[in-house]
Amino acid sequence: MSATAESRALTPPDIAARKGKTPLVCLTAYTTPIAKLVDEHCDVVLVGDSVGMVLHGMPSTLGVTLEMMILHGKAVRRGLQSALMVVDMPFGSYEESPEQAFRNAALVMAETGAAAVKVEGGESVAETIRFLTARGIPVMGHIGLTPQAVNAFGGYRVQGRGERAERILRDAMAVAEAGAFAVVLEKIPEALARRITQEVAIPTIGIGASASCDGQILVVDDMLGLFGAFRPRFVKRYAELAESAEAAIATYANEVRERSFPALDHVFGDEPRTVSGGQAA
Ligand code: KIV
Repeated sequence: MSATAESRALTPPDIAARKGKTPLVCLTAYTTPIAKLVDEHCDVVLVGDSVGMVLHGMPSTLGVTLEMMILHGKAVRRGLQSALMVVDMPFGSYEESPEQAFRNAALVMAETGAAAVKVEGGESVAETIRFLTARGIPVMGHIGLTPQAVNAFGGYRVQGRGERAERILRDAMAVAEAGAFAVVLEKIPEALARRITQEVAIPTIGIGASASCDGQILVVDDMLGLFGAFRPRFVKRYAELAESAEAAIATYANEVRERSFPALDHVFGDEPRTVSGGQAA
């Protein structure tokens, strides 16, 4: 699905060329096993800074560090073959100056093998996006509800309603003109997401945006029902894995307490014996 005929990994230009075509399938991943699961089905795999909340129990993404992104980026890289890997630049690692952004983005790419980075913000980061892209660092933009600005927004609110729509449109234009190869539109009104998708030249990737975007992204733990701290309306749950995991853990706990686990199948005798699959155990 995501790999080309020669089975090479997708590149930022491949993603940019998908504007107006078959929707781009994007998910987050933070670990090797999940990267292996999503790779075959996704065009883009994002090592999102949502990792701070989803895997590390942080209250927001603001405490996520470059070291965390590099560690999780390396893990995801080991699980991917065909999808494009993008790593989020964490809060504080790119806002100070284009030079700071370049230094840290280059480190992320060198350490993780990612083909691109993502930065949050519109007009305010356009100069930085221009600086990075001119120096060989492909950038994905992210506008609308940018979680790193949660304090400035006063919560995880829909952005771009009413008169504020024009500002979000300007952000989208600025990010595209600065050279981003795609832009995430998060939690903005559906009609605005549709309009931006029609007006900008790069693919839009929606999350709480519109089915008419050029692609969609979700946090994989959210859509699998593994992360329950937030249940935003834009997350469709495709499974309830936390419920199955909880039931399995409860069964294990009962079996340990009543000594029905381990059974004879799970322990070893003095002599090797053949178990299912033909292996000597
Ligand atoms: O950090 C993240 O997971 C993201 C996506 C939700 C777009 O930025």
